[in-house]
Amino acid sequence: SPGAHVPALIIGSGYGGAVAALRLTQAGIDTHIVEMGQNWTTPGADGKIFCSMLKPDGRSSWFRNRTDQPVGWFIGSDVNKDIDSYAGVLDSEDFGAMRVYQGRGVGGGSLVNGGMAVIPKRPYFEQILPSVDAGEMYGTYFPRASAGLGVNNMDSAWFDSTEWYQFARVGRDDAQAAGYATTFVPNVYDFGYMQREAAGSATKSALASEVIYGNNYGKKSLDKTYLAEAARTGKLTISALHTVTGVTAGPGSGYTVTMTQINTSGATVATKSVTADRVFFAAGSVGTSKLLVAMKATGKLPNLSDTVGAGWGNNGNVMVGRANSKLTGGNQSAIPAMGIDNWDDPAGPVFAEIAPFPAGTELWISLYLAITKNPNRANFTFDSGSGKVGLDWSAGQAQPSIDAAKRVFDKINSKTLTSYRTDLFGVYKTWGDDFCYHPLGGCLLGSATDNYGRLNGYPGLYVVDGSLIPGSVGVNPFVTITALAERNMAKVIATDLH
Ligand code: FDA
Repeated sequence: SPGAHVPALIIGSGYGGAVAALRLTQAGIDTHIVEMGQNWTTPGADGKIFCSMLKPDGRSSWFRNRTDQPVGWFIGSDVNKDIDSYAGVLDSEDFGAMRVYQGRGVGGGSLVNGGMAVIPKRPYFEQILPSVDAGEMYGTYFPRASAGLGVNNMDSAWFDSTEWYQFARVGRDDAQAAGYATTFVPNVYDFGYMQREAAGSATKSALASEVIYGNNYGKKSLDKTYLAEAARTGKLTISALHTVTGVTAGPGSGYTVTMTQINTSGATVATKSVTADRVFFAAGSVGTSKLLVAMKATGKLPNLSDTVGAGWGNNGNVMVGRANSKLTGGNQSAIPAMGIDNWDDPAGPVFAEIAPFPAGTELWISLYLAITKNPNRANFTFDSGSGKVGLDWSAGQAQPSIDAAKRVFDKINSKTLTSYRTDLFGVYKTWGDDFCYHPLGGCLLGSATDNYGRLNGYPGLYVVDGSLIPGSVGVNPFVTITALAERNMAKVIATDLH
């Protein structure tokens, strides 16, 4: 309500926001989350909360008239589909040379992602975040995050025998033929549930091509883990379909937060403002960076660090497909379970997820999402003409990612006598290098904030999401985002709130 006051307000309900919500509410603090996306709890006319990847409707996308699939092309045709504009679950935010995919809803990216729950290699973690005590992270906070997220492992005997992971076994064998190591990847999708799907005793989700537009079953997204636990304290309130538009200092030692409420068609229903003693930015790398850059440029939070908006990277993401000569399987689980691990190769570190292509029919395609060590970074900048925040990533900045991935997949192609697909990311476009799933940075730990995410210049303002991490983490990022949020919240609760 207008003029309302809350002790703690969290902007966004992804990984950082969910950790902050749980730890604040457990400390006895009344906490309010403001989330721009929907609370995904109500089934549509088909009885399902989310739509599948093969039959997308308005639920798939954040206010678009046509889907924007990551793999959007096939043999010369754009395979996207017309849909009704709606407050759907997956956003692809377009910054010119880079489209950034993000989840929209209570649970943030956990609603749409592949669930791969990977702890980074310790030497690389120490390199990217040297001010963070790695012993504490690997001893306490990574295990705490993995437990809180509900991470589990694939049964290797089932993996070896099920038709649903034929694509991954082929990907493994091809990599090993070229001398590359492969590794199982833990996940928050319940592999026991998946085995029951395969056996016909549970309703199919991963085995019904559900991912990126949400999973109706099986996946332990944040609404089922951290956020559910926070709600059980009785101290959590969530306002969905509310977008924070401004944060400014005062009255007193607190902050005023302005927001716009929309309906699922995108029409504005109300504008509101509340005051909060403490505000936690958890809008994701893009959302938090955009807000902070705009607040600094418009004089609402003028004392923010000059480095706000800097240090953004795409975690070296690049996608590629190979035309295989082996059957990859008409039935493919939508949840990845294996990666090619060439990270320790100094000539070109690559950690590549062997990705499914769950089209429901045999396509002889091996698809990969490669994570590379791309040193290029971009900045979020405010355009006073449009009043919008842009990201100055340019097309050529993806080249180091392509070079590293090409080294690995050229070798795999040459050993297995296969070639690249050139039709999946455009017409004669081999590399999916103009979009990413892993936005990181824009408000770096120890630069725009102190070593625990406290924003320089403003006591009571904190950053708890992926914008703290300097552009790269070498593996899929959500476990690191969660563990870093656990570490920072432990410090903040112990020292600022008692
Ligand atoms: P996150 O993006 O999760 O949450 C931010 C929240 O804030 C969102 O809910 C957003 O709607 C909200 N918000 C933004 N601006 C706002 C505003 N102004 N007001 C109110 N709310 C606002 N990672 C991984 O480790 N393993 C994987 O398998 C995958 N796979 C994958 C697939 C796909 C398709 C995507 C898009 C992403 C992945 N990822 C992934 C990446 C992972 O999901 C991502 O790194 C995390 O969700 C980021 O967590 P954050 O807490 O930083 O933000």
